[in-house]
Amino acid sequence: MQIHLNSKNTYGTINPKLHGQFIEFLGSCIDDGIWVGRDSAIPNIHGLRRGVVEALKALAPPVVRWPGGCYADTYHWRDGIGAPAKRPVTFNENFGTYELDQHQFGTDEFMDFCALIGAEPWLNVNLLSGSVQEMKDWLEYCNRAQPTSLAKLRQANGHADPYNVKYVGIGNEVWGGGGFMTPQQYAMTYRKYATAMPTFKTSLFDQEKTYKIASGPDGNKPQERVRWTRDFLTALASSRQPAIDAIDLHFYNWNIDHENDTPTDFTSDDWARVIQSAHELDDVISEQEGLIAKGLANMPIPESTMDHRLDQIDLVVGEWGNWHRPAFTARPALYQQVTMRDALTTAISLNILQKHCDSVAMACVAQTVNVLNSLLLTDGDQTILTPNYDVFMLYKGHRGGHVLPLDTKTPAVETFASIKDGIITVSLSNTAINAPKSLTLTFDDTVHLITAETLNAAHVTDYNDAAHPNTVRRHPLAMKQTTSQRQTVTLPAASVTTLQFKRS
Ligand code: AHR
Repeated sequence: MQIHLNSKNTYGTINPKLHGQFIEFLGSCIDDGIWVGRDSAIPNIHGLRRGVVEALKALAPPVVRWPGGCYADTYHWRDGIGAPAKRPVTFNENFGTYELDQHQFGTDEFMDFCALIGAEPWLNVNLLSGSVQEMKDWLEYCNRAQPTSLAKLRQANGHADPYNVKYVGIGNEVWGGGGFMTPQQYAMTYRKYATAMPTFKTSLFDQEKTYKIASGPDGNKPQERVRWTRDFLTALASSRQPAIDAIDLHFYNWNIDHENDTPTDFTSDDWARVIQSAHELDDVISEQEGLIAKGLANMPIPESTMDHRLDQIDLVVGEWGNWHRPAFTARPALYQQVTMRDALTTAISLNILQKHCDSVAMACVAQTVNVLNSLLLTDGDQTILTPNYDVFMLYKGHRGGHVLPLDTKTPAVETFASIKDGIITVSLSNTAINAPKSLTLTFDDTVHLITAETLNAAHVTDYNDAAHPNTVRRHPLAMKQTTSQRQTVTLPAASVTTLQFKRS
């Protein structure tokens, strides 16, 4: 089998923010996962679990979304600031969490976490039990440089410099737990929040400093998601448009209809079905791209040259990942183990997001620690890297690259290639459960191999846990070192591989 890489035929730029993360107080994602507390015997940095911080620092995720998710729908930011002992205790009922919420991980702790791992924060505001004023105050607390009362409060809490939060989500899944709104109701609500959001401009000629993200459709509802985007944009077009930068689509690769299929115990049919269904994201994004283009084409032409016609809305995929049936009853809530099946669908999803880099500006996997399609699991004082963590590490080289479309129809091989600064990064996933695949890559120029790493397991149901943290880890792949226009590689069965070549 042969794949040709034409390095002159490229498009787009892969926004590093397509490799974003999502954390929420569900199950043990934050409490016990990320946050262990300053007095914990578990090694920590200002209360943040050291193992998690170090693993994520190595990954350097470009953006982290917080506090939710559905948790954001009832989150009051003032509960999570100030003296830790004085913070209120509430009860978290979201997605079967059913735990006391001590509010020890609040805004300042989240910002500290982002700074330590090198990520930009994305805050999602509360539209359900919050108010426009509460949203405004939260952003004032975070971003105001001038000595206002809220900026002084941030300073009193130990943070003189503003956090300069750019990414702001206005509501979460407003078609469901975020309010069961109609697109028309949401458009009205959106207008208010987007208009009241502080601009943080300091001169008339500055651009607004926030990137406003509207709650987008449920990617898992084929009819509703079309109506949602169409009707929301129609409602926006019906009268002047407030600022809007993106629409946040959520898509889970649901695996809930097969009772005996669990994250670590599945048949080859289950394997094939879950891998196949991950591809639906591609169609959903293409469909939403079309709907956004149509919606924008219908935006009225302003009657004054002073006004700007709304001509761009990015797509953001704020939540994506595998959701297996047992997650619903798991303790801690939504805890899932991760095998090569999840690693492969993670690679497929990243391929799809990267392929759509001209329209998708940002994406966050759900979720980073101990919840659903995790990169990290924690157990006692241990932090375990899941196979998904290694997939994200294997894909780091694509960040900022230009897509190199590949002409391939190789059965069971998923491909993605990009080029940046003369380095070609090729990711190849072999989804065949027990057949290795030999491939020849051909290039226009002579290239030499710089790195070859693969992730695979002895058995596809293998996973990493505290007793065996390195059962499924990426490792160097043996390849012939040649300087040539032809390179051959054998992909292990059920594997994700990344190769990097430099033009000679
Ligand atoms: O990621 C878990 C939950 O899934 C989020 O809180 C919610 O937005 C979605 O339905």
